[in-house]
Amino acid sequence: MKVAVYPGSFDPITNGHLDILNRACSLFDKVIVLVANNPHKSSNFSVEDRVEMIKEAVNNNPKIEVTSDSGLTVEFAKKHGATHLIRGLRAVSDFEYEFQLASANEFIDSKIDTVFLMARGDKTFISSSSIITMAKQGVDVSKLVPASVLKRLK
Ligand code: COA
Repeated sequence: MKVAVYPGSFDPITNGHLDILNRACSLFDKVIVLVANNPHKSSNFSVEDRVEMIKEAVNNNPKIEVTSDSGLTVEFAKKHGATHLIRGLRAVSDFEYEFQLASANEFIDSKIDTVFLMARGDKTFISSSSIITMAKQGVDVSKLVPASVLKRLK
């Protein structure tokens, strides 16, 4: 069984993340969505809320598991029998950061490889923080996030 881990802050999850997740499901038998900790960011939602919003959004898809962890992503992947990490790429500006992250993960354990999926054209501008900014200013973001996020933003 081919298992991948899709790590991120998911603060909150967006339709851009869900698009990457659904496409990852067609490549792997199981995808574990991991709400992980980025020490450089302050959070909008608690980890528990973020996990709950993702669980509601994936609607019992048998291929998807959702959980959180505070340790190293690569160690989590090894513990759960995953061979790959999934990351989405939106623009050239994501590349440098993603390259650095993938290289650090490779240094920790080169047996865990990172697979990048390109965000689709209509989703390249979406980010969790832009969702928060728009929602706070009263912009309708219903086309950009799942219902589980929309109800909590309201
Ligand atoms: N659609 C929409 N938004 C996307 C996206 C997509 N396809 N791809 C990325 N983004 C956005 C996110 O919304 C987020 O936006 P924001 O900055 O406005 O919040 C941003 O891109 C990046 O967020 P995310 O993908 O969630 O990653 P991250 O950089 O916050 O998290 C971790 C990175 C958590 C995976 C990484 O820090 C990690 O693995 N931490 C655990 C410790 C570890 O193992 N570190 C690595 C070795 S040092």
